[in-house]
Amino acid sequence: MPTDRRTILVTSALPYANGSIHLGHMLEYIQTDIWVRYQKQSGNQCVYVCADDAHGTAIMLRAQTLGISPEELIADVKAEHEADFNGFHIGFDHYSSTHTDANRHYSELIYSRVRDAGGIAVRTISQLFDPEKELFLADRYVKGICPKCGADDQYGDNCEACGATYQASELKNPKSTLSGATPVLKDSEHLFFELGQHTDFLKEWTRSGRLQPEVANKLAEWIEGGLKSWDISRDAPYFGFEVPDHPGTYFYVWLDAPIGYMGAFKEWCDANNFDFDSVWGPNSDAEVYHFIGKDIVNFHCLFWPAMLNQADFRTPTGVNVHGFVTVDGRKMSKSRGTFIKARTYLDHLDPEYLRYYFATKLSARVEDIDLSLEDFVQKVNSDLVGKLVNIASRTAGFIGKKFDGQLASELANPELIEAIRAKGPEIRDSFEKREFSRATREIMALADDVNAWIADVAPWQLAKNEDTLAQVQPICTTAINAFRLLTLYLQPVMPTLAAKVQAFLNVDSLGYETLNDTLLNHQIESFTPLLTRIEMKDVEAMIQPDVTEVKESAKTEATSNIEPIAPECTIDDFTKVDLRVATIIAAKEVEGADKLLQLTLDLGGETRQVFSGIKAAYQAEDLVGRQTVMIANLAPRKMKFGVSEGMVLAAGPGGSEIYLLEPDQGAQAGQRIR
Ligand code: 2FM
Ligand code: ZN
Repeated sequence: MPTDRRTILVTSALPYANGSIHLGHMLEYIQTDIWVRYQKQSGNQCVYVCADDAHGTAIMLRAQTLGISPEELIADVKAEHEADFNGFHIGFDHYSSTHTDANRHYSELIYSRVRDAGGIAVRTISQLFDPEKELFLADRYVKGICPKCGADDQYGDNCEACGATYQASELKNPKSTLSGATPVLKDSEHLFFELGQHTDFLKEWTRSGRLQPEVANKLAEWIEGGLKSWDISRDAPYFGFEVPDHPGTYFYVWLDAPIGYMGAFKEWCDANNFDFDSVWGPNSDAEVYHFIGKDIVNFHCLFWPAMLNQADFRTPTGVNVHGFVTVDGRKMSKSRGTFIKARTYLDHLDPEYLRYYFATKLSARVEDIDLSLEDFVQKVNSDLVGKLVNIASRTAGFIGKKFDGQLASELANPELIEAIRAKGPEIRDSFEKREFSRATREIMALADDVNAWIADVAPWQLAKNEDTLAQVQPICTTAINAFRLLTLYLQPVMPTLAAKVQAFLNVDSLGYETLNDTLLNHQIESFTPLLTRIEMKDVEAMIQPDVTEVKESAKTEATSNIEPIAPECTIDDFTKVDLRVATIIAAKEVEGADKLLQLTLDLGGETRQVFSGIKAAYQAEDLVGRQTVMIANLAPRKMKFGVSEGMVLAAGPGGSEIYLLEPDQGAQAGQRIR
């Protein structure tokens, strides 16, 4: 055991307990799990905890709809999540929930320490209240007319049509999406975490080498813009923890969610007789890392360290942020069948294929990761089957058949084995720094070298002749030793393959302490195929849209989401609207706008700039070259980001479910639609 054995606590973001795990989530768990397995393989004490994020209005309402208690709902969902994680070999040391005594304890403790240090303000605020449901309405539960541009059916905080942001109370003709009732304004007392007090601390903390540079830069912008107080409470009824000194008020789900990392770890400590404070105490020399997606950086890199610091706990050593998953270059979409649930994937394909594929794409940067389905099939078949497993399948048979499963007493090519070992430090550095794509490239380059050497010495030729048969054993022994080392390197990515190889090679461990071992005069088991090729048809079967889900959503749409037909208009009204075929010649994201893409449209000679609220559904670069339909004579509208000279037409309820209209082939830019 190395003397500098590190103690490391690792977490992944806690998934909400009201939905299934999909491949977008799995990227994070796979990334974290690879890193954790690498630490364990290196002999460090690494503890990986996670939990379901069980609180909040959405979960309370979902349980009501299902006619069960929130406790029942979160227990069912937790069981489903755990089965999915097991399916992908995510090796949590403990998987908990935020709805536990341990989490309540730390939530109350942190809150009371922050309060006693003067970090909490109590203020009365006025919010929209649904008088039928008797519930304060979060922005996503209110819809109405945009106060800026007049677009109908906009959510309570921002307009998808014009990009404006506003208070829900400013919406015209607001309606509760829960009951249809007109909400009323109502006062209540809320608790605020005074984030501004921590500006200096956060300036320094975010620049202390704990964050990726692009994350630190984004945070610097936010900090420069001024840190606002954060509302950490919600009014009853709410599924969560009641604030001890404010009956009828609950901790906001995002207050107790990160504290859930501590709650889960405390349960692990209790079960393993481990001292919690040796990790979370202010003087801890253990390391703590959170792996998260880019959408929740503010919670983990501002509120969380500030609260921990004020409550006299240590702060994380690092927060590792990753991007989103796209499938074939586009946002995942239910109707395209690419919103792939973990369970759907597992019904069709081996989880280690995806672990490997994600590994070949992951780096320490905050980039989106594209699951390109053809590339996925090609890479898995070529790298894992064609390169790695091929080393064993070309050589193990000779050891079994000709030498009774016994490896030779010497290697035919010790330099090759040394060369593979010599790459160990680089490969380890790649794993340590989360540069998994570099690690897999390095490993596959070694596999190429081994295969080239095997092809060169061609043991199958030597085996044909009694005079040369004796050379086959040290050659195949070299190949098997190479295979062992490459599998060891890949073990964090492919733990099940590694376990099978361990059994095949009759070895106790593939940890780094065995890196210098050479298997000589050693008995191995007979070789059985370790991996099979992926067939494109299995991938195609996986992305068939789930018929029941499509039907279900059609039913819901039919009953609630389809808007009523607008009042009758005349043909003259219609011809006032000049609809044209337009070619998208450029598309880009708009700095500072969450929902908008800026499109440059060609109308057959004339170009127009249009801002469109379709960012959640499309990657800008995928739109370039496509044709669509636009309103060409809409009065130009001045928006925060520039003037929008028209509007493109799209269908769908919004968010990622937006479908841009596209004319049939043959339509020319500029042609009028009639
Ligand atoms: O964004 C989410 O899915 C949250 N449930 C993540 C919580 S992570 C942590 F803070 F608990
Ligand atoms: Zn608007």
